Order: sequence, then C-alpha cells, then structure tokens
Amino acid sequence: MGKLDGKVALITGGSRGMGAAHARLMASEGAKVVITDVLDDEGHALADEIGGTYHHLDVTDENAWASVVADVHANVGPIGVLINNAGIVGFSPIATASTDEWNRVIGINLTGTFFGMRAVVESMTSAGGGVIINISSTAGLQGYSNLSAYVASKWGVRGLTKSAALDLGQHGIRVVSIHPGPIKTPMTDGFGDEMTAQQAIPRFGLPEEVAAMALFIAADATYTTGTEFVIDGGATVGAALQPPQ
Ligand SMILES: NC(=O)c1ccc[n+]([C@@H]2O[C@H](COP(=O)([O-])OP(=O)(O)OC[C@H]3O[C@@H](n4cnc5c(N)ncnc54)[C@H](O)[C@@H]3O)[C@@H](O)[C@H]2O)c1
Repeated sequence: MGKLDGKVALITGGSRGMGAAHARLMASEGAKVVITDVLDDEGHALADEIGGTYHHLDVTDENAWASVVADVHANVGPIGVLINNAGIVGFSPIATASTDEWNRVIGINLTGTFFGMRAVVESMTSAGGGVIINISSTAGLQGYSNLSAYVASKWGVRGLTKSAALDLGQHGIRVVSIHPGPIKTPMTDGFGDEMTAQQAIPRFGLPEEVAAMALFIAADATYTTGTEFVIDGGATVGAALQPPQ
C-alpha cells in the first residue's frame, strides 16, 4: 500500500529537476501524478515512465490554470496535492537589473504560485481538503547578492504560504513552504563545490532528498500548516570555517 494511494498530485515545473523527483516518488507511493511544465517533450516522457499524465501549463497564465485544473478534476479526480515548484533564477546586481527580468522572475515564482493555489481550492475542497506545497528557497529566509528579484519572489512565497494557510485551514487544506539550499538540478549546473564548502553538510543536496521531505509533508505531517521546512545542508545555520593556519 502506498502513502498516497489514489490521490491526485499536480506538480508544476515537473518535467525535470526537483519537480521530476517529486513526480517519481509520489507516483511510486500510489499517487495519480499530473506533471505540468512548459518543457513538453521531457514532461510527456516522464509521464510515460511513471504512468502519469502531462499538461502544458505556463504558470503565469491564469486561464491555462483554470482549464488544466478543470480537465484534471473531471478526468483524473479532485486534486489532493499541489506542488508549486516551477521557478526560474536570474542574476543581476540591483543597480542594473532590468524591469523585464524583475517581472519575469516575480511572475513565474510568486504570481504563478498564487495562481496555482487559487486555481485548486474548489477542487481540493470538493474532496474534503488537500495539501499545497510551495517551493521557496533559502533565498526566502535570507538575502543573496545579485539575486534581488529571486530573493523577493521567494520571501513572497513564504509570506503568501502563511496567509493561504490561514485562509484555507477551514477547508481542510494545509499549505506549507519548502526552503531548499543548493540542490543538484539543471538550475545549478554552472555552480561548483565552492558553493557548498562552508555548509555543515558540505555538498549539494539531491532532488530525491527534497522529494522525501515533500512526501512526508503530503502524507504524514497532518498537524502542520503555514510553516517552513528547511532542507539546506545547514546553509542558513552559519558558516563552517576552518581555523587560521
Ligand atoms: N536547485 C536549487 O538549488 C534550488 C534551491 C532552492 C530553490 N529552488 C527552487 O526549486 C524549484 C525547482 O527548481 P530546479 O532546481 O528543479 O530547477 P529546474 O530549472 O531544473 O526546473 C524548473 C522547472 O520549472 C519549469 N518552468 C520554468 N518556467 C515555467 C513556467 N513559466 N511555467 C511552468 N513551468 C516553468 C522549467 O521548465 C523546469 O522544468 C524552483 O522553484 C527553484 O527556484 C531550487
């Protein structure tokens, strides 16, 4: 028996990286997984691999959200788990960051998360409730240079999560945020080991480790809402420095 038997789990940005790990693990625990993304070939291939379904969904398109959720509700079932995972990063110092980049990062990471939560409330409520997992970041807990829009978007996701948890608790819907540190995915392809050298656990995390946390939240953390789950190898705890020679 799986921990999510028969539950419908919709994952945004599910074609690769952490989203794909959530899709694989939730499918292996019996969920009917709905992968959504803008990377259609990868999404279809993963859906075939895990026995799920794929829908093209740009998370910034609120009309597309309405039609994908209506389709899934009618043909797969009421949505029990939503993982708002789609995200992008952009590096610019604040003095020269463009308005276009700001709008793109906020649009996908923050507004996309809002659209997703709003879109599933009715479907989740019809089945007595559900779980929404919003993927923030350690950038939702502290600042980083050259990442103002990303940091603002991820702090926004953290705050939005708390307000949504208060709005939706009465409908049986739990809402939490996950705050990963550096995780090995296509997003971090260009980064070397120096990025994690001062962490208490000096390595990149794996997408599967984050997926294990999401499964725990969805299946077991039944008295938890509005709060933050940090999975960062100790990155936000402090710097593990070597003594001077
Ligand atoms: N990798 C890390 O170190 C790290 C750390 C903290 C938080 N995060 C967050 O985790 C989430 C997943 O990141 P990842 O590392 O797996 O990155 P990734 O780039 O491998 O995957 C992101 C996915 O989101 C999809 N996506 C991008 N724009 C989209 C849009 N408009 N609509 C729908 N899908 C879209 C991409 O196509 C891709 O499949 C993101 O929200 C990211 O900000 C990543």
